Amino acid sequence: MHTRSTVVSLDRADSVSRGPDRDLVGRDGDLQVIREFLDRAGDHGDCLVIFGEPGMGKTMLLDTAAEAAPDGARVLRARGVQFEAELCYSGLHQLLLPLHEDFSLLGGAHRDALDVALGFAAGEAPSRLVLSNAALTLLQAVAQARPVLIVLDDLPWLDRASLAVLGFIARRVGGGRIGFLAASRTGEESFFDRLGLPEHELAPLHPDEAIMLIQARFPALAPAVRDRILSEAQGNPLALLELPLALSRPQRAALQALPPVLPLTRRLRSLFASKVAKLPIASQQLLLMIALDGRGDPRILVQQGTHSVSVDDLVPAEQAGLAYLDTRTRRLTFRHPLVCAQVVDMATVQARRSAHAALAALTADQPDRQAWHLAEAAIEPDEHVAGLHEQAAYRILRRGDAVGSVATFRRAAELSPNNLERGRRLAGAAYICAEAAGDLKQAAQLLAEIDEIDHDPNTSLRAATAAAYLAYREEGDIETAHRLLVAAIEQATRGQGPHPPPSLHDALHCLWSLCNQGARADLWKPLYRTMDGLGADVSPALELCVATTADPVRGAAGALDRLDAAIEALAHESDPGRIMPVAHAGVFVDRLGGCREPLLRVHRSARQGRAPAVLISVLSLLSYDDFWSGQWDAAKQKLHEAIGLAETHSLGTVATAPQHVGALIAAARGDYDTTRALTDEMLRWALPRQIGAIQRQAWAARALGALGRGDFEEAYQEASKVSKPGDLGNPHALWCALDLVEAAVRSGRRSEALRHARSAHESGIASLSPRLALVTAGATAMATADDSALRLYEAALAIPGADRWQFDMARVRLAYGERLRRARAYLESRSQLRPALDIFERLGARPWADRAAQELRATGQSRPRGWVSACVPLTPQEQQIADLAAAGLTNKQIGARLFLSHRTVGAHLHGAYRKLGITTRAALRDALAPEQAREFCPAGEQADDALSA
Ligand SMILES: Nc1ncnc2c1ncn2[C@@H]1O[C@H](COP(=O)(O)OP(=O)(O)O)[C@@H](O)[C@H]1O
Ligand SMILES: [Mg+2]
Repeated sequence: MHTRSTVVSLDRADSVSRGPDRDLVGRDGDLQVIREFLDRAGDHGDCLVIFGEPGMGKTMLLDTAAEAAPDGARVLRARGVQFEAELCYSGLHQLLLPLHEDFSLLGGAHRDALDVALGFAAGEAPSRLVLSNAALTLLQAVAQARPVLIVLDDLPWLDRASLAVLGFIARRVGGGRIGFLAASRTGEESFFDRLGLPEHELAPLHPDEAIMLIQARFPALAPAVRDRILSEAQGNPLALLELPLALSRPQRAALQALPPVLPLTRRLRSLFASKVAKLPIASQQLLLMIALDGRGDPRILVQQGTHSVSVDDLVPAEQAGLAYLDTRTRRLTFRHPLVCAQVVDMATVQARRSAHAALAALTADQPDRQAWHLAEAAIEPDEHVAGLHEQAAYRILRRGDAVGSVATFRRAAELSPNNLERGRRLAGAAYICAEAAGDLKQAAQLLAEIDEIDHDPNTSLRAATAAAYLAYREEGDIETAHRLLVAAIEQATRGQGPHPPPSLHDALHCLWSLCNQGARADLWKPLYRTMDGLGADVSPALELCVATTADPVRGAAGALDRLDAAIEALAHESDPGRIMPVAHAGVFVDRLGGCREPLLRVHRSARQGRAPAVLISVLSLLSYDDFWSGQWDAAKQKLHEAIGLAETHSLGTVATAPQHVGALIAAARGDYDTTRALTDEMLRWALPRQIGAIQRQAWAARALGALGRGDFEEAYQEASKVSKPGDLGNPHALWCALDLVEAAVRSGRRSEALRHARSAHESGIASLSPRLALVTAGATAMATADDSALRLYEAALAIPGADRWQFDMARVRLAYGERLRRARAYLESRSQLRPALDIFERLGARPWADRAAQELRATGQSRPRGWVSACVPLTPQEQQIADLAAAGLTNKQIGARLFLSHRTVGAHLHGAYRKLGITTRAALRDALAPEQAREFCPAGEQADDALSA
């Protein structure tokens, strides 16, 4: 990387450079911790984060650890720098640069990811997951040959993007010979805090050690002064070394009073300040450049041109012990980060600007870094620099960092010399703020700013879109949001050129989501009108969203091929702006499973970046998929996270989807209070505001709860609010069809049930997805009174791919099993009921499991063996005792055989009964015998079920 001339000059620089004194005093206990860590790391990988106050010796300890690494180990180092721009992956770049040649050990995709992220090659930014895996794979590959030691200093100041990858690595070093050692300041918050890695706090030096250190370095200090410094330094080595230096000769000899006591860190900084102030101006300027560059790039020393500084300017700083060229790392390094902070604090605005200008000239090959330096150097607005920021803002957004993107857009606006550009960039910020970041307050402020300046229709449209999100998300005011947006869209499309701008696509997407939420025919009309006007220019994602949600029965079938192709095309996509609309289009036609991987990528980037509103949406989509595919505990975790985020960010309206999933799961599990509380809340919000989708979600959850409770009348009433029998004209009807039909049948409304089932059948929704095929066939079978129902059930269960929808599948099996039992086909009935019971048990769908178990009992089987093993297995001792009891032995006899008291035997048997679901000894044999061998003997007939009622 070094240019020729740099290398030549560096040879000179080496001769004047020296690092700080490296003799470690004391620290035996800490060294022992490090040694043990290194041993463990060398054996099977380990992590350690060292905490401590500034100056406590963390860096020195890391240096010592790096030197103590086993022979042949590969030591990789990086450090965070306070004044470095928030530049993606600069930390990772430092760390992995020495391994550049080893990138060839990786497969193509991983190598490309690292090359692009670290700036060795151009290309689309890799997803964080791919990059994290690439970095980990690289380290593991290198560690095959020799141990690897990662040493990270000043952790909280590393860039966020690198931290995310490093966090990923830190949690996975186990098993490989990778050591992960980091240092962090006490009290400085860091993303790593949450990872729960092993920590070690670096305490102050022991008083004896402090004396040793001060004696070694300042042997001539008067004892009284030494004591005063010892007490003031509080065991902080940096203070022990710096405080004496700051004293005048008379002070050192105790002839003069010492300066007043200041908090230690401030005191140290002021010591450094006086040293910096004594340097020649050029040296100060050089230090400032080193501070603001953040990477210690030695090319700074040979920078030519107006802002030229040279290696000679380093000499005074080096002699004052403030900075030096580290001969090992070939980086310009401050004596201590406190010096760096102080240098920047002391610089005049003008000096900072010219340092940034000089650094901008040095970073032409790194657009984000250069844009930052140029902006900091700019005295007045500058369109070129503003444009660079705008581009950077889009790049940041595509990486999933909405908050970072908003800040960069704002910066671009500040730098814009002309109002039109400024307005456009402010509107960009407002839009991302309202849409992805969900920072409604800031969005409102930005909109107010835009109001004050001239703007063009394009800007008005962006601003209106932001305002629409704001109105909807803040107040649930769908009417205002819709009206605002439609007016702006109409105005923008009136003078429309041949190619609609991205702002129109985004506005239409917002309008779609309002229509989808409002779920009223009149809301959709203006959207259709605009789409007609645009013809082929409508974005494919919008078209898919509309086709699958407005009226899926009519629209979805024709769009499915395109939807499936769009989902396939997400395989390597990481831009949330592309993934989310396609996933939304997949919701009602059961395509979320195919979107899962891309959604998980959005989840990760929205979490690591800062995009709360996106995060809530993606969690909602994933929890829907979890719900449908029977991963209910996973769904609950996600919806709790989403609801918590919504509370934190005051985004209540965005959280109705997770509330819906929560209400469904609670309903299916028989937790009716929760269902009631959640749906009450949803309806309190949605009814007065006429938000149709949320109302339907609430009613559907209540219908499911009522079905579970066996309150079929209420189930019918709620389900028919979602859609009337025979009407499948809204997407929620597709989710609720089975509920409506079952409720109708069991509340004595067979003709309504038939009407709905027939409508489902005739509408062809079965062709949309295996789930809808299952629902259509299952509902038809439920509604059918004669024996042809049996054939219909068989057909339903044979639908390929339908068993992904486990709860629906189990419900169809249960209904089939019930029907078979009533036909006295007990064996066949059991073969449906048992797997249904298994699924209900696994899901924790208690009322449904009870129903299935009760049915099973009615077939004469109290508790099937399969169920027992699927739930709570007998302990070996219970099994043994139960087997003996089943063979006819009394408790006493069993006790004698197993050397137990008969009381203990009784207790074990009792446990076994509970698990087997029996109450008498006589039932034991049946409950324990292998199914095949068990003879069917009809138990006392249960009262017949309600199906025939
Ligand atoms: N145990 C020690 N013995 C000798 N010098 C030390 C010791 N600990 C720290 N120092 C010196 O104190 C100064 C501050 O230490 P440093 O490692 O930079 O602190 P931190 O990284 O915790 O801010 C450095 O000059 C370092 O050489
Ligand atoms: Mg340090």
